[in-house]
Amino acid sequence: MITVKTVRELRAAIARARGEGKRIALVPTMGNLHAGHAALVSKAGQRADFVVASIFVNPLQFGPSEDLDKYPRTLAADQEKLLEAGCHLLFAPSVEEMYPDGRSDQTIVSVPGVSEGMCGASRPGHFDGVATVVCKLLNMVQPDMALFGEKDFQQLAVIRKLVRDLNMPVQIFGEPTVRAEDGLALSSRNGYLNDEQRASAPVIQRTLKLLGERLQAGSSDFAQLIDDGRQQIEQAGLRVDYLEIREANTLQPARSEDKSLVILAAAFLGTTRLIDNLALHLD
Ligand code: PAJ
Repeated sequence: MITVKTVRELRAAIARARGEGKRIALVPTMGNLHAGHAALVSKAGQRADFVVASIFVNPLQFGPSEDLDKYPRTLAADQEKLLEAGCHLLFAPSVEEMYPDGRSDQTIVSVPGVSEGMCGASRPGHFDGVATVVCKLLNMVQPDMALFGEKDFQQLAVIRKLVRDLNMPVQIFGEPTVRAEDGLALSSRNGYLNDEQRASAPVIQRTLKLLGERLQAGSSDFAQLIDDGRQQIEQAGLRVDYLEIREANTLQPARSEDKSLVILAAAFLGTTRLIDNLALHLD
């Protein structure tokens, strides 16, 4: 695996792979890699011949009071994990390389509809930052495909719409969430939790599962389900940021006739904000 830091080197390495007729997959990340990221890279290796990963802690997607400065930067350990997972090329640019004209002078890509509500409401500007950096990465690498985790369900919806609306010639794959044994979705932010918080955190997934079972059993009183879910999460000492039942494709509030649903949650443990979701199809 080679690591490059500039767009110029990236394009040269991509051109070589293209010259050899390889199909290219991109896995964008912010680093501090865990088994969830590694699963995306291995899956990319099954779907394509040449796997490119990026590590860039994107300042554009962090709010002023968020964890940009403390977000863990662990390049050497990440390189080892990527190599092991079968990555061929790592792009790890600086902020200056990604935003040479400065952040305030950067063209912004904004995806309407699916960016609104939930994480979009709690983190104003977040999805503009995500859409902008993903658009840039896709243009830099020009991969045949890019892989993202379903763990960030709303982000995946934003990226699917971005690619569709801008006619970008790339196939987007959403891959299942990788979890710890107790059900907690793996996240770089789990590292911020102390032992007590870590022990409480799986209540998010337990609650999603319980709500999913009630929906499958025919319950359609969404307001009641949400009330009960909130209570369960808060009893475990978390503060619910949002808990919502939405139509899985449009992310519009669920209606009783909808069959493809997703329950999405964000909750705080102290200052750490964790997200998770459960998609389900009612038959
Ligand atoms: P990051 O949080 O590093 O996540 C990189 C990719 O890994 C995303 O597609 C995310 O959904 C996926 N991922 C994270 N946790 C996962 C888990 N437990 N199981 C499976 N996949 C998981 O998401 C971002 O970075 C950024 O917003 C980015 C898309 C790179 C744009 O800056």
